[in-house]
Amino acid sequence: MRKICAANWKLNFSPDEARRYFVEWSELVGTIQQARQTPEQTAPLNCDVVFFTPAYDLPVAVEFAVKNGFQIGPQNIYFVNSGAFTGEISPQAVRALGAEVALIGHSERRTLFGETDEAIAKKVKASMSADLMPILCVGESLAERESNQTKDIVGRQLRGGLELIIGDFAQSRRFTIAYEPVWAIGTGKVATPAQASDMHAEIRTELETLLGKKRAHEIPILYGGSVKPENARELASQANIDGFLVGGASLKPKDFLAIAATL
Ligand code: PGA
Repeated sequence: MRKICAANWKLNFSPDEARRYFVEWSELVGTIQQARQTPEQTAPLNCDVVFFTPAYDLPVAVEFAVKNGFQIGPQNIYFVNSGAFTGEISPQAVRALGAEVALIGHSERRTLFGETDEAIAKKVKASMSADLMPILCVGESLAERESNQTKDIVGRQLRGGLELIIGDFAQSRRFTIAYEPVWAIGTGKVATPAQASDMHAEIRTELETLLGKKRAHEIPILYGGSVKPENARELASQANIDGFLVGGASLKPKDFLAIAATL
Protein backbone atom coordinates (compact mmCIF):
# COMPACT_ATOMS: atom_id res chain seq x y z
CA MET A 1 0.00 0.00 0.00
CA ARG A 2 1.32 3.48 -0.84
CA LYS A 3 1.86 5.58 2.26
CA ILE A 4 0.41 9.06 2.75
CA CYS A 5 1.86 12.16 4.40
CA ALA A 6 -0.84 14.80 4.92
CA ALA A 7 -0.39 18.37 6.15
CA ASN A 8 -3.18 19.98 8.14
CA TRP A 9 -2.51 23.71 8.08
CA LYS A 10 -5.60 24.47 10.19
CA LEU A 11 -6.42 28.21 10.19
CA ASN A 12 -3.00 29.42 9.05
CA PHE A 13 -1.58 31.16 5.97
CA SER A 14 -3.21 33.78 3.75
CA PRO A 15 -3.06 33.13 -0.03
CA ASP A 16 0.19 35.17 -0.22
CA GLU A 17 1.74 33.18 2.60
CA ALA A 18 0.53 29.94 1.01
CA ARG A 19 2.24 30.94 -2.23
CA ARG A 20 5.53 31.62 -0.41
CA TYR A 21 5.20 28.25 1.34
CA PHE A 22 4.73 26.36 -1.91
CA VAL A 23 7.62 28.17 -3.60
CA GLU A 24 9.87 27.04 -0.76
CA TRP A 25 8.38 23.52 -0.81
CA SER A 26 8.95 23.21 -4.59
CA GLU A 27 12.58 24.35 -4.20
CA LEU A 28 13.22 21.82 -1.44
CA VAL A 29 11.61 18.99 -3.40
CA GLY A 30 13.62 20.05 -6.48
CA THR A 31 16.83 19.83 -4.44
CA ILE A 32 16.04 16.24 -3.42
CA GLN A 33 15.20 15.40 -7.01
CA GLN A 34 18.60 16.66 -8.14
CA ALA A 35 20.49 15.01 -5.29
CA ARG A 36 18.90 11.65 -6.06
CA GLN A 37 19.05 12.26 -9.79
CA THR A 38 15.35 11.49 -10.00
CA PRO A 39 13.84 12.31 -13.39
CA GLU A 40 11.46 15.25 -13.17
CA GLN A 41 8.37 13.20 -13.91
CA THR A 42 9.17 10.73 -11.09
CA ALA A 43 8.03 11.55 -7.56
CA PRO A 44 11.07 12.11 -5.32
CA LEU A 45 9.25 10.82 -2.21
CA ASN A 46 7.99 7.29 -1.52
CA CYS A 47 4.59 8.50 -0.34
CA ASP A 48 1.62 10.51 -1.56
CA VAL A 49 1.74 14.05 -0.20
CA VAL A 50 -1.48 15.89 0.66
CA PHE A 51 -2.06 19.48 1.81
CA PHE A 52 -5.25 20.37 3.69
CA THR A 53 -5.35 24.14 3.42
CA PRO A 54 -7.94 26.74 4.43
CA ALA A 55 -10.59 26.91 1.67
CA TYR A 56 -9.37 30.32 0.40
CA ASP A 57 -5.86 28.88 -0.19
CA LEU A 58 -7.07 26.03 -2.41
CA PRO A 59 -6.71 27.97 -5.71
CA VAL A 60 -3.04 28.72 -4.92
CA ALA A 61 -2.51 25.15 -3.71
CA VAL A 62 -3.94 23.64 -6.89
CA GLU A 63 -1.61 25.70 -9.06
CA PHE A 64 1.43 24.21 -7.27
CA ALA A 65 -0.10 20.74 -6.94
CA VAL A 66 -0.39 20.41 -10.68
CA LYS A 67 3.29 21.34 -11.12
CA ASN A 68 4.61 19.27 -8.24
CA GLY A 69 2.48 16.14 -8.12
CA PHE A 70 0.89 16.46 -4.69
CA GLN A 71 -2.79 16.41 -3.72
CA ILE A 72 -4.84 19.09 -2.03
CA GLY A 73 -8.11 19.28 -0.17
CA PRO A 74 -10.32 21.18 2.28
CA GLN A 75 -10.23 20.61 6.06
CA ASN A 76 -13.99 20.16 6.15
CA ILE A 77 -16.90 19.82 3.71
CA TYR A 78 -20.66 19.90 3.98
CA PHE A 79 -22.77 16.91 2.96
CA VAL A 80 -24.87 18.85 0.46
CA ASN A 81 -23.52 20.34 -2.75
CA SER A 82 -25.62 23.51 -3.01
CA GLY A 83 -28.50 25.35 -1.38
CA ALA A 84 -29.27 27.61 1.57
CA PHE A 85 -26.36 26.57 3.83
CA THR A 86 -24.55 29.80 4.69
CA GLY A 87 -20.84 29.40 5.28
CA GLU A 88 -20.54 25.76 4.19
CA ILE A 89 -18.22 24.13 1.63
CA SER A 90 -19.60 22.18 -1.33
CA PRO A 91 -17.84 18.84 -1.99
CA GLN A 92 -18.59 19.01 -5.72
CA ALA A 93 -17.31 22.58 -6.01
CA VAL A 94 -13.96 21.89 -4.34
CA ARG A 95 -13.60 18.78 -6.51
CA ALA A 96 -14.18 20.95 -9.58
CA LEU A 97 -11.47 23.30 -8.31
CA GLY A 98 -8.97 20.42 -8.31
CA ALA A 99 -9.20 19.00 -4.78
CA GLU A 100 -8.83 15.21 -4.63
CA VAL A 101 -9.13 14.59 -0.89
CA ALA A 102 -11.18 15.90 2.06
CA LEU A 103 -10.40 15.86 5.77
CA ILE A 104 -13.46 14.76 7.75
CA GLY A 105 -14.27 14.58 11.46
CA HIS A 106 -11.08 16.19 12.79
CA SER A 107 -11.26 16.37 16.59
CA GLU A 108 -11.33 20.19 16.46
CA ARG A 109 -14.46 19.94 14.28
CA ARG A 110 -15.98 17.47 16.73
CA THR A 111 -15.18 19.38 19.94
CA LEU A 112 -15.27 23.06 18.89
CA PHE A 113 -17.99 22.87 16.22
CA GLY A 114 -20.15 20.08 17.60
CA GLU A 115 -19.85 17.60 14.73
CA THR A 116 -21.55 14.31 15.50
CA ASP A 117 -20.85 10.83 14.14
CA GLU A 118 -24.11 11.14 12.17
CA ALA A 119 -23.02 14.33 10.40
CA ILE A 120 -19.55 12.89 9.84
CA ALA A 121 -21.03 9.76 8.25
CA LYS A 122 -22.97 11.96 5.80
CA LYS A 123 -19.80 13.92 4.99
CA VAL A 124 -17.83 10.73 4.32
CA LYS A 125 -20.52 9.57 1.90
CA ALA A 126 -20.89 12.99 0.24
CA SER A 127 -17.16 13.27 -0.26
CA MET A 128 -16.96 9.84 -1.92
CA SER A 129 -19.98 10.71 -4.09
CA ALA A 130 -18.12 13.82 -5.24
CA ASP A 131 -15.01 11.74 -6.01
CA LEU A 132 -12.98 13.19 -3.14
CA MET A 133 -11.08 10.65 -1.04
CA PRO A 134 -12.11 11.16 2.59
CA ILE A 135 -9.58 10.95 5.41
CA LEU A 136 -11.77 10.16 8.41
CA CYS A 137 -10.25 11.19 11.77
CA VAL A 138 -10.87 9.26 14.97
CA GLY A 139 -9.30 9.50 18.42
CA GLU A 140 -9.96 9.55 22.14
CA SER A 141 -9.57 12.39 24.68
CA LEU A 142 -7.26 12.15 27.69
CA ALA A 143 -10.19 11.52 30.06
CA GLU A 144 -11.41 8.71 27.80
CA ARG A 145 -7.94 7.13 27.70
CA GLU A 146 -7.51 7.42 31.45
CA SER A 147 -10.87 5.77 32.07
CA ASN A 148 -9.97 2.88 29.76
CA GLN A 149 -12.51 3.80 27.09
CA THR A 150 -10.10 4.29 24.18
CA LYS A 151 -11.08 1.20 22.23
CA ASP A 152 -14.82 1.77 22.72
CA ILE A 153 -14.65 5.42 21.68
CA VAL A 154 -12.47 4.86 18.62
CA GLY A 155 -14.55 1.83 17.60
CA ARG A 156 -17.75 3.88 17.88
CA GLN A 157 -16.30 6.77 15.84
CA LEU A 158 -15.09 4.35 13.18
CA ARG A 159 -18.36 2.43 12.84
CA GLY A 160 -20.34 5.69 13.05
CA GLY A 161 -18.27 7.51 10.44
CA LEU A 162 -18.32 4.62 7.98
CA GLU A 163 -21.94 3.64 8.54
CA LEU A 164 -23.36 5.00 5.29
CA ILE A 165 -20.68 3.59 2.99
CA ILE A 166 -20.43 0.01 4.27
CA GLY A 167 -21.55 -2.52 1.69
CA ASP A 168 -21.41 0.17 -0.97
CA PHE A 169 -18.63 2.72 -1.63
CA ALA A 170 -16.39 1.18 1.05
CA GLN A 171 -15.63 -1.85 -1.13
CA SER A 172 -14.74 -0.01 -4.29
CA ARG A 173 -13.60 3.54 -3.59
CA ARG A 174 -10.54 4.88 -1.82
CA PHE A 175 -10.73 6.15 1.72
CA THR A 176 -8.30 6.56 4.60
CA ILE A 177 -8.47 6.61 8.40
CA ALA A 178 -6.40 8.92 10.61
CA TYR A 179 -5.95 7.94 14.26
CA GLU A 180 -5.29 11.10 16.26
CA PRO A 181 -5.41 10.82 20.05
CA VAL A 182 -6.85 14.20 21.09
CA TRP A 183 -4.38 14.51 23.99
CA ALA A 184 -1.49 14.39 21.51
CA ILE A 185 -2.79 17.07 19.13
CA GLY A 186 -0.82 20.31 19.35
CA THR A 187 0.40 19.41 22.84
CA GLY A 188 3.89 18.15 22.04
CA LYS A 189 2.84 14.85 23.73
CA VAL A 190 3.19 12.20 21.10
CA ALA A 191 1.74 8.70 21.54
CA THR A 192 4.53 6.21 22.12
CA PRO A 193 5.19 3.92 19.14
CA ALA A 194 3.64 1.09 21.19
CA GLN A 195 0.48 3.09 22.02
CA ALA A 196 0.07 4.14 18.39
CA SER A 197 0.75 0.72 16.96
CA ASP A 198 -1.66 -0.86 19.46
CA MET A 199 -4.52 1.38 18.36
CA HIS A 200 -3.69 1.00 14.68
CA ALA A 201 -3.89 -2.79 15.08
CA GLU A 202 -7.23 -2.34 16.86
CA ILE A 203 -8.54 -0.16 14.01
CA ARG A 204 -7.36 -2.71 11.44
CA THR A 205 -9.27 -5.45 13.27
CA GLU A 206 -12.40 -3.29 13.38
CA LEU A 207 -12.02 -2.64 9.63
CA GLU A 208 -11.72 -6.41 9.04
CA THR A 209 -15.03 -6.90 10.82
CA LEU A 210 -16.68 -4.13 8.82
CA LEU A 211 -15.17 -4.76 5.39
CA GLY A 212 -13.62 -8.22 5.31
CA LYS A 213 -9.94 -9.09 5.68
CA LYS A 214 -8.72 -8.33 2.17
CA ARG A 215 -10.33 -4.92 1.86
CA ALA A 216 -9.33 -3.92 5.42
CA HIS A 217 -5.67 -4.28 4.49
CA GLU A 218 -6.04 -1.89 1.55
CA ILE A 219 -7.14 1.02 3.76
CA PRO A 220 -4.27 3.27 4.91
CA ILE A 221 -4.32 4.17 8.63
CA LEU A 222 -2.41 7.40 9.37
CA TYR A 223 -1.14 8.52 12.77
CA GLY A 224 -1.53 12.15 13.86
CA GLY A 225 -0.67 14.07 17.04
CA SER A 226 2.60 15.98 17.54
CA VAL A 227 4.44 14.22 14.72
CA LYS A 228 7.83 15.89 14.29
CA PRO A 229 10.98 15.16 12.27
CA GLU A 230 12.51 13.80 15.51
CA ASN A 231 9.83 11.19 16.25
CA ALA A 232 8.57 10.33 12.76
CA ARG A 233 11.06 7.62 11.85
CA GLU A 234 10.29 5.37 14.79
CA LEU A 235 6.53 5.80 14.37
CA ALA A 236 6.83 5.12 10.64
CA SER A 237 8.54 1.80 11.32
CA GLN A 238 5.55 0.41 13.30
CA ALA A 239 3.27 -2.18 11.72
CA ASN A 240 -0.07 -0.71 10.59
CA ILE A 241 1.18 2.92 10.55
CA ASP A 242 0.69 3.81 6.90
CA GLY A 243 1.49 7.50 7.06
CA PHE A 244 0.97 10.71 9.01
CA LEU A 245 -1.42 13.60 9.47
CA VAL A 246 0.74 16.52 10.57
CA GLY A 247 -0.46 19.82 12.08
CA GLY A 248 2.12 22.14 13.66
CA ALA A 249 5.19 20.65 11.99
CA SER A 250 3.58 20.94 8.54
CA LEU A 251 3.75 24.75 8.78
CA LYS A 252 7.49 24.60 8.04
CA PRO A 253 8.18 23.12 4.58
CA LYS A 254 11.54 21.75 5.72
CA ASP A 255 10.08 19.89 8.72
CA PHE A 256 7.14 18.54 6.74
CA LEU A 257 9.47 17.28 4.02
CA ALA A 258 11.72 15.64 6.63
CA ILE A 259 8.65 13.81 8.00
CA ALA A 260 7.49 12.72 4.53
CA ALA A 261 10.97 11.39 3.80
CA THR A 262 10.65 8.87 6.67
CA LEU A 263 7.80 7.06 4.89
P1 PGA B 1 -0.33 18.44 15.53
O1 PGA B 1 -1.79 18.37 14.88
O2 PGA B 1 0.62 17.73 14.59
O3 PGA B 1 -0.03 19.90 15.67
O4 PGA B 1 -0.41 17.75 16.85
C1 PGA B 1 -2.26 17.23 14.23
C2 PGA B 1 -3.66 17.45 13.73
O5 PGA B 1 -4.43 18.16 14.39
O6 PGA B 1 -4.05 16.94 12.66
